[in-house]
Amino acid sequence: MKSPKKTKKTVFLEEVHIKNFLSLRDVVLPLKSLTVLVGPNASGKSNILRALWHLTAMMNMGDLPTDFMQESIWAGKSTEIRFRIGVKIGEVLADYKLELDVTDKTQINVEELIIDKLKVISVYEGEGEVTDEDGKNITSYKPSKPKLALKSASDYGNKPVTSALSEFIQDWKFYDFKPYEMRISNILYEDIKVSTKSPDLDIYGLKLKNILLYWLDNDKKRLESVNKILGKNSERRITEYNEGKNDLYLSEGCEKLISLKKASDGTMRLLAYHVLLNHPHIPSLIAIEEPERNLHPAALKEIASVLERLSERTQVIITTHSSQLLDAFNPENLSSGKMGVLMLQNIPGKGTQIKNLEEIRKDREALDGWIADFGIGSAIFDSELLQDITESQSCQA
Ligand SMILES: Nc1ncnc2c1ncn2[C@@H]1O[C@H](COP(=O)(O)OP(=O)(O)OP(=O)(O)O)[C@@H](O)[C@H]1O
Ligand SMILES: [Mg+2]
Repeated sequence: MKSPKKTKKTVFLEEVHIKNFLSLRDVVLPLKSLTVLVGPNASGKSNILRALWHLTAMMNMGDLPTDFMQESIWAGKSTEIRFRIGVKIGEVLADYKLELDVTDKTQINVEELIIDKLKVISVYEGEGEVTDEDGKNITSYKPSKPKLALKSASDYGNKPVTSALSEFIQDWKFYDFKPYEMRISNILYEDIKVSTKSPDLDIYGLKLKNILLYWLDNDKKRLESVNKILGKNSERRITEYNEGKNDLYLSEGCEKLISLKKASDGTMRLLAYHVLLNHPHIPSLIAIEEPERNLHPAALKEIASVLERLSERTQVIITTHSSQLLDAFNPENLSSGKMGVLMLQNIPGKGTQIKNLEEIRKDREALDGWIADFGIGSAIFDSELLQDITESQSCQA
């Protein structure tokens, strides 16, 4: 008899609350399928992604390195960094809290997981209790060194929601594609060739060529989807592989093929975004800093569309300085709640402050008209309807 298929729970990160992490003295972020962080230089956009990166890194490692966070604490008076996330897992709400004392070496002050009002993890000053999600099987928790209970608790007993949450956090990816390194990356294809599935895209995109090669050999449909985009306004397409040289070629309508090592920065980025979109494994949350980098304004429509399509399958967070990229998003996604725009400022002594465009729109009628007529970017940067919010009060780096 066939074993019943395991259905994967859909997990959605609804809210993140961060305290005393870099410029994030006390911020609450409501998250959507696609969340865009906007704000002047040094307003704290990257710090938000750094905070989330630390969470996934801690979950992946399990152990807390002892001197992990000292350099990351808010420069004002504080001894504790706090993270709290609100997550919807299927129909169930989970509230996970992690408070770290970072004065001397990093210690866990509080770790709590509440699933539908039941406290599954309750750890205070490094020790406590973990129970199953039906309230049974209470076990005491006292690791010899600081360790996240969320990671180990999901390994035993009846904890499907806890496991889904732990896996969800571990799968977040923070992409930072590096065109130069992607071009010269010389990871041998031979080992990947025999793999039974597409290699995952690493955060710098160094495996991009290998993934394309794998698709050329085993999954032509995916390569065709990427080529369709590449050739949209030109003759370009990825064609063949020279096994001896471990190289992949672009056909650009000339007699000879051109090595992918000679492709432009923007082309490499465009390829990376499309490989991400067409890849069979899409991470549970994707963060990208300034996806507009290296791209001509006309290509930003393509990027906005990739991000919108990605956000139909996973959660996406981006930072941007590009009014044109913001204009390229469908404003209906804003009204329907699929997309959120968070506007950041870093106020001296107070740290990063966040204003949610959704909230601001409620009492500024003219803003909706402007967004519909000219786009989200024009409304934020050109309309003067948000001047009081967008005017830089940041402490410049
Ligand atoms: N420990 C700290 N306490 C308070 N503020 C800090 C701390 N460490 C860094 N900062 C501040 O955080 C700010 C940098 O934030 P961040 O890198 O997130 O900016 P950003 O919005 O991504 O800017 P950009 O658009 O230039 O990339 C700087 O003003 C820096 O002084
Ligand atoms: Mg930044």
